[in-house]
Amino acid sequence: MVMVDLITKKRNGEALSKEEIDFFVKGYTEGTIPDYQASALLMAIYFQKMNPEETAYLTEAMMHSGKVVDLSEIKGIKVDKHSTGGVGDKTTIALGAMVAACGVPVAKMSGRGLGHTGGTIDKLESFEGFSVELSIEDFIHNVNEIKLAVIGQTHDLAPADKKLYALRDVTATIDNMSLIAGSIMSKKLAAGADAILLDVKTGSGAFMKELNDSFELAKEMVAIGSNMKKNTIAVITDMDQPLGCAVGNSLEVKEAIDTLKGNGPKDFTELCYTLGAYMLMLAEKAATYDEAYKKIEETITSGRALETFKNFIEVQGGNSSYVDDIELLPKANYVTTISSEEDGYIHRILAETVGLSALLLGAGRENKESIIDLAVGIKLNKKVGDRVSKGEILAEIHYNDEGRLKEAIAKLKSAYEIHTTPVEKRPLIYGYVK
Ligand code: URA
Repeated sequence: MVMVDLITKKRNGEALSKEEIDFFVKGYTEGTIPDYQASALLMAIYFQKMNPEETAYLTEAMMHSGKVVDLSEIKGIKVDKHSTGGVGDKTTIALGAMVAACGVPVAKMSGRGLGHTGGTIDKLESFEGFSVELSIEDFIHNVNEIKLAVIGQTHDLAPADKKLYALRDVTATIDNMSLIAGSIMSKKLAAGADAILLDVKTGSGAFMKELNDSFELAKEMVAIGSNMKKNTIAVITDMDQPLGCAVGNSLEVKEAIDTLKGNGPKDFTELCYTLGAYMLMLAEKAATYDEAYKKIEETITSGRALETFKNFIEVQGGNSSYVDDIELLPKANYVTTISSEEDGYIHRILAETVGLSALLLGAGRENKESIIDLAVGIKLNKKVGDRVSKGEILAEIHYNDEGRLKEAIAKLKSAYEIHTTPVEKRPLIYGYVK
């Protein structure tokens, strides 16, 4: 088999066979296929697309390019959750504790953030001493004992995806439905869960900006999961404005803790309850959605989710007294605000633009080597649909360094669209695919 034949075939709109896709994934991972040929094939896939069979072959080949984690020693149905990413998405932090408090094992492999979306591990490192450097044995032990553990993504988890994702990033081939679906699902399948819940974001801060595309992506990923005999549900949720009010690592952790204490923002709380309910159903802990939803809600009113979270932080070496006193979490030295320049209603707060503003403050990574400032970020005082008066505060900016503050403020202001007419709030949940 020669690579140029595969490129020609795909360029001409033909489907690749399983053997051809295996050849490509293996060759590229091992370094026998050079970047320029892999780039050409990716671009051909980008324009000609892949059919569902090809997408399934690609996913399987990437999944088996490294180790498939064996979590069989964990008792119970293990449900993994994945978000396609967004601004202010601190869901794993609160949701993991809620689901674990219902007795469902949550064995989570998470990543760090790159660009404007933050990673769960970065956020959790707001707790002094917290570490995700666990051996697989300790990871399994912790999940069996307290039902919740978070570990960093191991290097040998779907290495083909790691290499291909980096290449896609610099060849403008990220936003292809099959390539995204294959990339996400290969990692989820290699991480060893029994069932998978996908939070597919839609809107300005998401990969998929259009609702139809988000549903299409959800369908592709659910089909891959089902094909691999893993119960999979995808919920399509809003990412046109940031989720909750906090954007930035320790600010988001504070908001997640507030939520576990029953004082979280309405949209974020609702999202956690909804996703939690689907996770309980996948774990066969509830027969109906309503029953599952009530069980999740009860972990907050009883304080069990908060207790589980505290335990989890402590067991992974973190200072859990921060949970009782969130003021101990990293705090920026300065806070400034932006205010509305007119009377009216907030029509839009572009999520990606808010994320980029937080990035300028130092909350995110511009490249892999960037060192992030856990304390800085943005707190929104108003959300889409709210009425504002001229001079009223729209958002707080928490910062340590004045270097790019002006730029960050200008960027944040540009995220807002305010008009005199009232506006209907966008739905938070658009539907699900199973
Ligand atoms: N997240 C991934 O892991 N892969 C993609 O291709 C896109 C988002």
